[in-house]
Amino acid sequence: MKHELMELPFEYDALVPFMSKETLIYHHDKHHQAYVNKLNELIIASEFENLSLIDIVKKSDGAIFNNSAQVYNHDFFWNCISPKETKISDSLENLIIKTFGSFEKFKTEFITKASTHFGAGWVWLVVNEDGKLKIVSTVNAQTPITDNATPLLTCDVWEHAYYIDYRNVRPEYLENWWKLINWDFVSTNFDSIQRFEQTNYINDCNDNSDICNYVESIIEDERTTS
Ligand SMILES: [Fe+2]
Repeated sequence: MKHELMELPFEYDALVPFMSKETLIYHHDKHHQAYVNKLNELIIASEFENLSLIDIVKKSDGAIFNNSAQVYNHDFFWNCISPKETKISDSLENLIIKTFGSFEKFKTEFITKASTHFGAGWVWLVVNEDGKLKIVSTVNAQTPITDNATPLLTCDVWEHAYYIDYRNVRPEYLENWWKLINWDFVSTNFDSIQRFEQTNYINDCNDNSDICNYVESIIEDERTTS
């Protein structure tokens, strides 16, 4: 199966002045494209040739892992930003406030983790395997999906993400990247987990009544679309 470079969900100049057209051309058309090309080259005639991108990330190591994870991470990253005004859902905002103390404290912790991350990598807001919200950083191509965490938001802190616009001033990139976060996408990721958990919770309903058959059909939909 040939993997394709995802299209940017906005125009190349849509994020100006926070992210330039030149940065998007290099980041998406050169760096992201290179990971896609290398992945396609590496999986020819291998056990990974017909697997989905996520399965490759979860089952591979070495160069195939690095390139597949970078494709996944960048796909996720582009969806996490938007030139449009977006809004966080009440349920996610409430959990962030409960977990971090306030929304400002959450932002400070996220930006600090991204500013101080040594070298190339990614910073994420995830829901861990135990259902807790957490800010984590990953090195190079590492990605939280290999730890059974569900990503809600990510920021690329590889130098190629910001060097054209901000040179070595990563904190300035992060402050401006924050203004671009697509909270609709982040909230949808969170709400998907909530829906899945709710339907799992009522999994014991099996008395063959109409309502239980309906519930079972929702559960089945969630399983096939998650
Ligand atoms: Fe990148």
